[in-house]
Amino acid sequence: MHKIETLISAEKLNERIEELGKQISEEYSDKKEVHLICVLKGGVMFMVDLSKKITNIPVSMDFMAVSSYGNESSSSGVVKIIKDLDESIEGKDVIIVEDIIDSGRTLNYLINILKDRNPNSIKICTLLDKPDRRVIDVQVDYTGFVIPDEFVLGYGLDYMQKYRNLPYIGVMKV
Ligand code: IMP
Ligand code: MG
Repeated sequence: MHKIETLISAEKLNERIEELGKQISEEYSDKKEVHLICVLKGGVMFMVDLSKKITNIPVSMDFMAVSSYGNESSSSGVVKIIKDLDESIEGKDVIIVEDIIDSGRTLNYLINILKDRNPNSIKICTLLDKPDRRVIDVQVDYTGFVIPDEFVLGYGLDYMQKYRNLPYIGVMKV
């Protein structure tokens, strides 16, 4: 195990996710359903917990996996679809659920290809945002926490594919 310091505790995550769920529930109350798209693997914990806090309208889910060519801590901007969605999003009210926005390249690419598939609406919900690292401007509709430019892990986010299982967001101490 590496030495990991807590940045956002499980309690704080839970509290904030409940607020986001409430906000989405209110803002989508006139829709017939909301379609959550999880960006694997990092967004998985967040989407699962967030979906449980949307209480007033039916929720459907789909999953997508993309890889950005680059090293572990910076993406190159070239994004490849590893796993596409199972279902069409045409006419649906879609929310893309992401773990973190860093340079913005992954989401910028993703939102552009998904917009071309004619959803009724498409919004972005990210648990974490590192605005200091932004290269491409992306319109984010729901943000859990704005964090400083530090490499974080846990609650879906990995360090070399490990530590996604931590129930909190941590920072590795070297
Ligand atoms: P972007 O294209 O630079 O916005 O990269 C976003 C992706 O990079 C996220 O979905 C994460 O998978 C990964 N990433 C960015 N920052 C971190 C971090 O601090 N910890 C773990 N993964 C990160
Ligand atoms: Mg990700």
